[in-house]
Amino acid sequence: MEEKKKVLTRRDFLVSAGGAVAGIALAGTGLGLLTPHAEGATVELPEYPWEQYFDKPLDVQKVQDLAVQYFGEGNGCAEGAFRALIEALGEPFSYVPSQIMNFGKAGGVGWGTLCGAINGAAAAVSLVYGRGQATTLVINELMGWYSETALPLNTTESSVANSPLCHASISNWCKATGNKASERGPRCKALTGDVAARAALYMNQIQAGTFVPAHPMSAETKACYDCHGPGGRMDDSLGTMSCGSCHDGH
Ligand code: HEC
Ligand code: HEC
Repeated sequence: MEEKKKVLTRRDFLVSAGGAVAGIALAGTGLGLLTPHAEGATVELPEYPWEQYFDKPLDVQKVQDLAVQYFGEGNGCAEGAFRALIEALGEPFSYVPSQIMNFGKAGGVGWGTLCGAINGAAAAVSLVYGRGQATTLVINELMGWYSETALPLNTTESSVANSPLCHASISNWCKATGNKASERGPRCKALTGDVAARAALYMNQIQAGTFVPAHPMSAETKACYDCHGPGGRMDDSLGTMSCGSCHDGH
C-alpha cells in the first residue's frame, strides 16, 4: 500500500507527466499540480481495487457544495454528483475523467430513466467498492431513500418520487408544486447536492461500521415481488421499484 501510494505524490505525478517540461506547462496553465486534467499527462494509476485509498471520512458538506457547483457549471446531474464525490475522495479516484458520467443527465440524455444524480453518485460508490458487497448495500439504500424522501431537502417545493426514475421524480414534483418540467433547473441542482451528500454519508457509515439500511422494500411491493420476481411462482419480472407506481394490484 505504501508503495502504491507513493506513485501518486505530487512529484511522481510530475515525473509521470513528463518531468520538468510538464511541470512548466502545468504552471503555465495555472492549474494546480494535482489536477488530473492536465493535457497529455500520463499518470500511473495504482492497481485496482482502490477501496484502501478511501481512508478518511468524506466531508459531506463539501460533497454537497461541489455537486451543486458542478451542476451550476453545466455538468448535469450525473456528472455533477460523480465529480463532486471523486474529487472529495481524492487520488486516485479523482483521476477518472468525470465526463464518463455525463450521459446520465435527465435520466440518460433526457430519457427519464434512472435519475442522473443517483446514477452519478452510484458510479462513484461503485468506483470505491467495485465488486464488493458495499456497492450493492450503499446504492440499494440510496435508491430506497431517494424514492421515499421528499426532495430536494430543506425546501417547501419538494416532492416524493416513489421511484428512482427521473421521469416519475420530475412529474411528481410538477404535480406537487405546480412548476413546469422546464423549470426544474434549480430543483435538480439542489437535489444533485442532496443525493451526492447522501452517498457520501452512507460511505462514511460503511467505513465507520455504523451503516444500517433503513429503506427496505415495502410490504406491498414485497408481496408482488415474491410472486413475480426472480425465483417466485410467476418468475416473470425483475426489479424492486415500487410496483404500485406503475401497476394496479390484482
Ligand atoms: C400470489 C401470487 C401473485 C401476487 C402476490 C401478485 N400477482 Fe400479479 N399475477 C399473478 C398471476 C398468477 C398472474 C397471471 C394472471 C394471468 O396471466 O391471467 C398475474 C398477473 C399480473 C400482471 C399481468 C397483467 C394482469 O393484470 O394480468 C401484472 C402487471 C401483475 N400481475 C402485477 C402484480 C402486482 C403489481 C402485484 C402486487 C400488488 C402482484 N401482481 C401480486 C400472481 C400474483
Ligand atoms: C416504472 C414502471 C413500472 C414499475 C415500477 C413496475 N412495472 Fe411491471 N411493467 C411495466 C411495463 C412498462 C411493463 C410492460 C407492459 C407492456 O408492455 O404491456 C410491465 C410488465 C409487467 C408484467 C407483465 C405484464 C403482462 O401483461 O404480462 C408483470 C407481471 C409486471 N410488470 C410486474 C411488476 C412487478 C411485480 C413490479 C414491482 C416489483 C413491477 N412490475 C414494477 C412497468 C413497471
